[in-house]
Amino acid sequence: MADIILVDDDLGLCRSMQMLFEKDAHSVSIAHTGAQAISLISDNDYDVVFTDLKLPDMSGLEVVAFAKKRLPVAEIVVITGYASIETAVDAIKSGAYDYLTKPLSIEKVRITLKRVMEKIALTQQVDLLRRQLQDSFSLSLQDTPVGFESMIGSSPRMQEIFKIIRQTAQGDSTVLITGESGTGKELVARAIHSLSFSGTLRLNSQRSKGRFVAVNCAAFSRELAESELFGHVKGAFTGAIKEKTGFIEMASGGTLFLDEIGETTTEFQAKLLRVLQEGEYYKVGHTSASKMNARIISASNRNLEKAISEGIFRKDLYYRLNVITIEIPPLRQRRQDIPILAYHFLKKYASRLTAKEVTDITPETIEVLMQYDYPGNIRELENALEYAVTFTHGSQITPADLPASIAGVSRSHSCGVTLPQGPLKTALYEYEKSLLTSALSHCSGNISMAARLLSISRQRMQQKIKEFDLNT
Ligand SMILES: Nc1ncnc2c1ncn2[C@@H]1O[C@H](COP(=O)(O)OP(=O)(O)OP(=O)(O)O)[C@@H](O)[C@H]1O
Ligand SMILES: [Mg+2]
Repeated sequence: MADIILVDDDLGLCRSMQMLFEKDAHSVSIAHTGAQAISLISDNDYDVVFTDLKLPDMSGLEVVAFAKKRLPVAEIVVITGYASIETAVDAIKSGAYDYLTKPLSIEKVRITLKRVMEKIALTQQVDLLRRQLQDSFSLSLQDTPVGFESMIGSSPRMQEIFKIIRQTAQGDSTVLITGESGTGKELVARAIHSLSFSGTLRLNSQRSKGRFVAVNCAAFSRELAESELFGHVKGAFTGAIKEKTGFIEMASGGTLFLDEIGETTTEFQAKLLRVLQEGEYYKVGHTSASKMNARIISASNRNLEKAISEGIFRKDLYYRLNVITIEIPPLRQRRQDIPILAYHFLKKYASRLTAKEVTDITPETIEVLMQYDYPGNIRELENALEYAVTFTHGSQITPADLPASIAGVSRSHSCGVTLPQGPLKTALYEYEKSLLTSALSHCSGNISMAARLLSISRQRMQQKIKEFDLNT
């Protein structure tokens, strides 16, 4: 049952509403002035706020604004005389759920409360579903050196990748991660590291306690690559004025992430190959070998097989590096992940704002986000959400808040300027299917809600799900 606060200077009215609500087992607090209301709302959590718009000491709109801020999930109903219907509209605009006009009747009040309670139940249900979804569709990486992070994905392909990450983390084999720019290659590498155990030799020691050292191989200069990786002793060459620890040593007991491995020279590749084959390496200028105790994970957004055929990447190194290969598909091939990622980034960036509250993304915006192709993949989606959260004026992200590159695409679609590829029938089929998929995904698989979103009956929605063979 609900905790309700009634704010009205009309003592008789408060009393009769209180009796009505308490009969239905709700618990009721009463305030006769704005100041009393604000003090009660500051100290207590309420589910529903009923407030008169005309209070002796302030406008009810101030109570609405305060309640909205302090109790973001509470529902607010304003009470108004006939004369101030415009103020009631203002109250709705500032976040009240409904309004009641005086004189009140028992019936009117009862129906309004019933609707409010239904709304609360629905919101809670959606929240619960969303939370359940988040749990099953994310991989938490609390232990990463950069603090809390998680990897999100609801598509079957990402679910499979999560499984591979968990299995890969148990062993010490080399891993090669491929995928376009911004698909999450580094995040996958961090995930493997943070869930890692170091093989069978030291059963109880976790690699995740060691360091994750990320190295961008494209930034190596031809001359210094070797000393960067292996380190050097003092005086090993001109300019080696003191001893230097190499990346392999830094990552000892942890993971060495060699990013953009496809950009290395063949000389460097030969040296790396030797380390992988022998499990030891020589610091530049040192005569005895050091043992390598870092796990090697490499990544490339270049097609390494093509690079091999062009003679710029060593085939033998390729086979050493990719004992396990993880291919991350571009975002446009797993659009199902877009809504859940968008909410993830909304939460991430909204929590950094103190001056305003951005809590939701409209269904229409999700549609727009799902239509775009994301050449920059997840990084581009993340940037779009950061942009939208920063610049929106409301509490919900709308299509107008998105960067023009994304919003513009859907506008040209809706103007009908883009010609469908193939026959019209196929294009319409695909379009309907994508609408249904995104509605279902937006409603976390809840068929009734998705049907409502598309203004069709639940029965019709079910037929469509069968017809298009959609996963729910
Ligand atoms: N599945 C995911 N869930 C949540 N965030 C993700 C996911 N995949 C990628 N990201 C985020 O997207 C951004 C880009 O990811 P990352 O740097 O790992 O990509 P990359 O493939 O290494 O890109 P590049 O090739 O440009 O180096 C990061 O901020 C990362 O946290
Ligand atoms: Mg990267």
